[in-house]
Amino acid sequence: MTRVGVLASGRGSNLQAILDAEMAGRLGKAHVVVVASDKPEAEALARAKARDVAAVSVPSTGKDRAAHDAEMVKVLRDHRVDLVCLAGYMRILSSSFIQAFPGRIMNVHPALLPAFPGLHAQEQAFRHGAKIAGCTTHFVDDSLDGGPIILQAAVPVLEDDTAQTLADRILLVEHRLYPATVRLFADGRLKVEGRRVRILPGPEKVDAWMFSNLPL
Ligand code: GRF
Repeated sequence: MTRVGVLASGRGSNLQAILDAEMAGRLGKAHVVVVASDKPEAEALARAKARDVAAVSVPSTGKDRAAHDAEMVKVLRDHRVDLVCLAGYMRILSSSFIQAFPGRIMNVHPALLPAFPGLHAQEQAFRHGAKIAGCTTHFVDDSLDGGPIILQAAVPVLEDDTAQTLADRILLVEHRLYPATVRLFADGRLKVEGRRVRILPGPEKVDAWMFSNLPL
């Protein structure tokens, strides 16, 4: 079993997608064992509790990054987490956090990296005039949204889109991409070779494009 810890600061819709995938038997051997947040009021914590998953609040106020990260790492270790999934976690991880889970931290980003890293990526893509937007799952390293890319899915920018309608459509695709990524990890199908993440063959064929092609 792959024990998953999810870190989220807000709404938690990607967490929900992962929990729903697990419930539907679409997460392979992955099992969400803890959800932790730097924001005590995060909706993500309520979503975890609703599914009887441990929900831990680790407020960051009044702590420096090292102290807060050490607390978070302890929570994850106490729950014997094998994989850390960032899902709208709005803090940059310190090197010591990253080194505590080498090759075992992933994130979902609402753009086709390396384009539009950082905040408000969907709006960045929209304002830039991109015709193809999308989302990316990637391993987390010391760079900002720059770790090895796992899966990507394209989302076309439509003529009548606003930044918001585009972001909404990207989010729906994130909800497919992230659980699929967690499953690949749990199935031992991700092999990192430098910057490239190879997807090893398995019972199900996985191509990034399929996520944006499926009816929503
Ligand atoms: C998502 O758009 C994700 O790509 C980004 O933060 C947002 C989190 O949304 N990293 P939610 O909390 O999962 O609903």
